[in-house]
Amino acid sequence: MLPCWNVLFFLGVLPWIWPCSYAQFGFNYSEEKNLTRPFKIKVHRVVCIDTPYEETILHECRTIFRRNQRPLLSVSLEVPKMYDYLMIHFQLYYKFTTYQTFLIDTKAEGCNLMRDHKSDPKLNYMYGVLNDMMSPIVHPCPFGNRTYIQQAMLKEENAPRSVPAGDYRMDVRLSSKTNVTVIWMQLYFEVRRKGILNSMLEW
Ligand SMILES: *[C@@H]1O[C@H](CO)[C@@H](O)[C@H](O)[C@H]1NC(C)=O
Ligand SMILES: *[C@@H]1O[C@H](CO)[C@@H](O)[C@H](O)[C@H]1NC(C)=O
Ligand SMILES: *[C@@H]1O[C@H](CO)[C@@H](O)[C@H](O)[C@H]1NC(C)=O
Ligand SMILES: *[C@@H]1O[C@H](CO)[C@@H](O)[C@H](O)[C@H]1NC(C)=O
Repeated sequence: MLPCWNVLFFLGVLPWIWPCSYAQFGFNYSEEKNLTRPFKIKVHRVVCIDTPYEETILHECRTIFRRNQRPLLSVSLEVPKMYDYLMIHFQLYYKFTTYQTFLIDTKAEGCNLMRDHKSDPKLNYMYGVLNDMMSPIVHPCPFGNRTYIQQAMLKEENAPRSVPAGDYRMDVRLSSKTNVTVIWMQLYFEVRRKGILNSMLEW
């Protein structure tokens, strides 16, 4: 886990600008979203792991590829129980030779996140991505007692302003207070720089 999403000197050389606080970078997810990105995201697939789940029923978890359009990530999850605590864990992996955690490894409790996410840029970012990609779960507590159905797209604006080209995996795990997996998704995607291809090493 990185101490602060700040300016990182990745591999000792490469500067990585990442919001640490509003004061320092003026980071604001809803504002950053509008800026064009110098890269394209190509989604390869979504998979749900650790199935079958103990307390929930996964009806669908797949990628729908469409001609000339972004693929849709289609998830349908039946949640019979109710939760007033839901841990949300985001982890981003970059594929060097194997996938390794990279930049984002952050957890937040969902009920708190719904109540207050404005004070912390990291939480604000998580909330923004959840709201864009999994809007059905973005509601006040308790969670559950319903089936969540969502078809989402991963867009460039969900990513930080600058990311190195390469293969990524984003893991999102929702779990109960007793650490039972509610859902655990892995999203595989590729980042392609526009114009000259930059790999991690030359980025
Ligand atoms: C982020 O920007 C939007 C639109 O400009 C604004 O409404 C919102 O209050 C800002 N959020 C923060 C935390 O500064
Ligand atoms: C982002 O762009 C949309 C559409 O162009 C616009 O309606 C919205 O106000 C913009 N938001 C910010 C924070 O600039
Ligand atoms: C669960 O949902 C059903 C149907 O929406 C509702 O009638 C019921 O009251 C809910 N149960 C609880 C415990 O809220
Ligand atoms: C919770 O469960 C996950 C997945 O099984 C495991 O990786 C993690 O270590 C567990 N955490 C705790 C605190 O037990």
